[in-house]
Amino acid sequence: MLTLNNLSRSFKLQDGSDLKILSDLNLSSSSGESIAIIGPSGSGKTTLLSLIAGLERPTSGQVIVDSLDLNQMSEKKLARFRSSRIGIVFQQFHLMPHLNALENVCLPLWLQKNPEAENLARASLDSVGMSHRTSHHPWQLSGGECQRVAIARAIVTSPALILADEPTGNLDPENAKAISDLLLNLSRVKNISLVIVTHSISLANRCDKKLQLAHGKLQNAVDSALL
Ligand SMILES: Nc1ncnc2c1ncn2[C@@H]1O[C@H](COP(=O)(O)OP(=O)(O)OP(=O)(O)O)[C@@H](O)[C@H]1O
Ligand SMILES: [Mg+2]
Repeated sequence: MLTLNNLSRSFKLQDGSDLKILSDLNLSSSSGESIAIIGPSGSGKTTLLSLIAGLERPTSGQVIVDSLDLNQMSEKKLARFRSSRIGIVFQQFHLMPHLNALENVCLPLWLQKNPEAENLARASLDSVGMSHRTSHHPWQLSGGECQRVAIARAIVTSPALILADEPTGNLDPENAKAISDLLLNLSRVKNISLVIVTHSISLANRCDKKLQLAHGKLQNAVDSALL
């Protein structure tokens, strides 16, 4: 489902030097698997998710999603692939403030000109327990509720892969647990692969694989790395 082959990413700095962030990462994961990525601030976790989402291009190496090499796709094809096969969940939710919950979830389907947008969005909100808040705007929702709407938006296109960047980082422990339950359940029930960047030990421990990103390398996380 997701394969990384010798994936590297550097940034060119103003003085012309290269800042190497990710160095020859390899990963192979099967469909429906959940992977937690942990690592210190600045280790490249968000950069890695951006590469997997095809939002950034690697300096070298490959990202293969659903048997397709993202780097072989044009920007246009990649955008279409991303919007149909990959769901993204952010720590800050990234909901549109001027749209209500239902409209936020409809948005990816409107962009695909899907005539069933409203029905699918209602079903998606229902699956995250938010069908009672469809006409609320983000500023009228709690943090946990905003994250549920963001997850409903991420799954409404039936993606094969969900990428979540610290999805519980802005939530209190109770809501963090509820959102973790929700993501892991969706992954199991709908066979969606999940890559979650998290600082939460309990969430990482509930995933099928725990990987640690440090010094540009991805390794199996030993439990001491989580402490
Ligand atoms: N466009 C860029 N140009 C130069 N350096 C960058 C660029 N984007 C990211 N970096 C650097 O890459 C490193 C990794 O950044 P990234 O955001 O991936 O870290 P992170 O592991 O997600 O950190 P955090 O836990 O704080 O979110 C950082 O040191 C950052 O300064
Ligand atoms: Mg980050």
